[in-house]
Amino acid sequence: MNPVVVYQTKTGSSLQYATWLGEEIGCPLINREDLTYGDLNDRQFIIYVASIYAGKVIGLNKFLKQVGDLDGKKLVLCMVGMTDLQKKCEYDKFFKENVPEGLQRKVQSFNLRGNVVYSKLGWVEKLMLNLVKVVGRLRRDDNVAFNYYFKEHFGEDVYFADRNLLKAVVDYYRDYDMRFRGI
Ligand SMILES: Cc1cc2nc3c(=O)[nH]c(=O)nc-3n(C[C@H](O)[C@H](O)[C@H](O)COP(=O)(O)O)c2cc1C
Repeated sequence: MNPVVVYQTKTGSSLQYATWLGEEIGCPLINREDLTYGDLNDRQFIIYVASIYAGKVIGLNKFLKQVGDLDGKKLVLCMVGMTDLQKKCEYDKFFKENVPEGLQRKVQSFNLRGNVVYSKLGWVEKLMLNLVKVVGRLRRDDNVAFNYYFKEHFGEDVYFADRNLLKAVVDYYRDYDMRFRGI
């Protein structure tokens, strides 16, 4: 199936997950920003791993244009955020708001919790994070990761990324591969 992992990151969590996935599946990684024409032509199984900033999966629109026609390809989207994974409805919202309606049935998505590396953020992102904190407080957000970070560790680097979270993605790949090969 010629699988490949494409990623986009700001502070490294998505790269970490992409690297782990590449090791588990045994396939190459490509930074979305380095993708060139034709890189995905003969790839039947493509995983896109990217983080969520202010509700947006970074690079996804450009990536979808780069992939082009999905006929004969399986596309898996791994969304990396700080939102608690128990809050599935939040991730469902990210999916619906980021993946065009016509593609939603063709894309398999998984949710992954990433790190918050405050020390690597630029001033714009730090400002955005402060705004998220204020909005969350106003909304009395009960998101566990949110409270954990914003109430107890704000301004620190907090590490949530966990290789075990990739088991579902790797199982999905193996199952798909077996069906592809008619086993
Ligand atoms: C300014 C800012 C906005 C963020 N917005 C969201 C968000 O809307 N939802 C979410 O789940 N995580 C959000 N996060 C958390 C990031 O998705 C998380 O830190 C992720 O691990 C970053 O991945 P990366 O290192 O690959 O960029 C935000 C982080 C920052 C700094």
